[in-house]
Amino acid sequence: MCGIVGYVGPRPSQDILLAGLARLEYRGYDSAGVAVIDGDGALGMRKKAGKLSALRDSLSDAPLPDGTTGIGHTRWATHGGPTDVNAHPHLADDDKLALIHNGIIENFASLRDELVAAGVAFRSETDTEVAAALLGREYAQNGGDLQLAFRSVVNRLEGAFTLLAVHQDHQGLVVGARRNSPLVIGLGEGENFLGSDVAAFVEHTRHALAIGQDQIVSITPDAVTVVDFAGTPVEPEPFEVSWDAAAAEKGGWASFMAKEVSEQPEAVANTIRGRIHDGQVVIPELDGLDDLFLGINRVIITACGTASYAALVGKYAIEQWARVAVDVELAHEFRYRDPVIGADTLVVSISQSGETMDTLMAVKYARERGARTLSICNTQGATIPRESDAVVYTHAGPEVAVASTKAFSAQITALLLLGLHMGRVRGSVADASTDVDELSALPDKIARVLADENEHVSQLAGWMADTRSVLFLGRHVGYPIALEGALKLKEISYIHAEGFAAGELKHGPIALIEPGQPVFVLVPSPRHSALVHSKVVSNIQEIRARGARVIVIAEEGDAAVLPFADEVIRIPLAGAMFEPLLAVVPLQIFAMALATAKGLDVDQPRNLAKSVTVE
Ligand code: F6R
Repeated sequence: MCGIVGYVGPRPSQDILLAGLARLEYRGYDSAGVAVIDGDGALGMRKKAGKLSALRDSLSDAPLPDGTTGIGHTRWATHGGPTDVNAHPHLADDDKLALIHNGIIENFASLRDELVAAGVAFRSETDTEVAAALLGREYAQNGGDLQLAFRSVVNRLEGAFTLLAVHQDHQGLVVGARRNSPLVIGLGEGENFLGSDVAAFVEHTRHALAIGQDQIVSITPDAVTVVDFAGTPVEPEPFEVSWDAAAAEKGGWASFMAKEVSEQPEAVANTIRGRIHDGQVVIPELDGLDDLFLGINRVIITACGTASYAALVGKYAIEQWARVAVDVELAHEFRYRDPVIGADTLVVSISQSGETMDTLMAVKYARERGARTLSICNTQGATIPRESDAVVYTHAGPEVAVASTKAFSAQITALLLLGLHMGRVRGSVADASTDVDELSALPDKIARVLADENEHVSQLAGWMADTRSVLFLGRHVGYPIALEGALKLKEISYIHAEGFAAGELKHGPIALIEPGQPVFVLVPSPRHSALVHSKVVSNIQEIRARGARVIVIAEEGDAAVLPFADEVIRIPLAGAMFEPLLAVVPLQIFAMALATAKGLDVDQPRNLAKSVTVE
């Protein structure tokens, strides 16, 4: 939800800002802009509706004088449509000050009225321009102190925001502030950076500082200072970025999504690494935190979208291994009722970005109500882990494509590890050796699915490019994978898709089946439960009898599905809890291939952004 980058140093800033924005474009891509203080101390600004390429084209057609201090923004529209005028930066103080923003300023209407009454004329429909105008007014009134002006403005704003500003009277200074939206500092040699995440500057430095909630940061080429909203100095927390710039490049793949799908064996292996000791799962980050798992009688896993489907798989695993009741709650529903939680509840949140506002608010709410909190997150230094009592990081590496793939696999892996770790601590798993072997075998098995089924599934998708609706059915841990298969298809191919628990079909959705309707069915192994397997085979017969075109995902050697399937996609044999990590892969490939066959941009689907930092 909007990407932000800032730079001060000796180098011309425009290329640095544009490269940073290219890496942040997944956060929003309906307009982009930069503001730079040039060598003569004049502020130049350019902004364009459309993707970053539109801004690049405009800058190469009519270059903006360059300078060594600048800010850049890529937008996901909230207030005001995606137009040139509504794009950021927004100017104030007679166009000497430029400001960019990520988030929503909830009290912008009353502030705008106040400013209009004082004679301010607005150019855009955005909440951001209100913050810019307030900052300009404060700056002018306080005699030209940008940090002080920031402090008085942020204390008047309600909602969520990251703000960055430059003023032409302050060459070599970028000031930023954050509340509930992300901002990190990149430390260079004689230069410093700000970014919505480390991707903005990782090609220049891997040394970073995390900024806490309600803090203001000022960067110059040689110094970084952070204060809280009251002006008290704060020591930001240093961290090293664990991946390099190459990890966030497309590297010859047709899309980031294709690259990330292919990286799943590595994402899973990296998430497991260092967490298996003597045939047991021991997560080092949870060392000394056994009380998180012992004094509880309930676990709530909260997340949104794809992460919530990982959570559903986690429910099955944690209940089975740790013998504690688990509920899965969509984060945006959680705090708007009156949930029964307290000190005996462990709230596990899952978030790739670690910045999803709905999930962050659910975590904060859980803490306020006395629950213990643990987050599963893919992004170092992100807000959700910082707000939690404990964190288990997934090590999927940077995920750039908007549709989540490798992060989903890493999330399920982390939940399987957590379930086995909890089971050991709670004494409900005496011997984890079989499950540990299953875990360790996963990366190779995922690689086999990728190698064996890519061509077959892509061909299938090509034949189905004109399909208007696809259904997905699963039972047990296959159910969340059916939901994920449908979500992947919806978000990148814009085809109507729905996932159902296979047993639910006869309670209504079977009315949707008409001749030719494509239905993917995830068939669990008969080795896990002959009963569940036979029920799914019966469900296949029910839809087949009504003319459905049945595409089955089943383990190698399962012959029971053959008489009723139009297509069979095979996955290697795996334990029940581990099958989701294999079955999801063909569904990701299918969605990607179908969207590609329709000529769509799989990395940046319409209306979406990767990191949803508004509620
Ligand atoms: C779908 C997708 C989204 C995210 C959701 C949560 O492909 O990526 O549904 O899973 O917005 O995002 P995070 O995990 O960053 O909290």
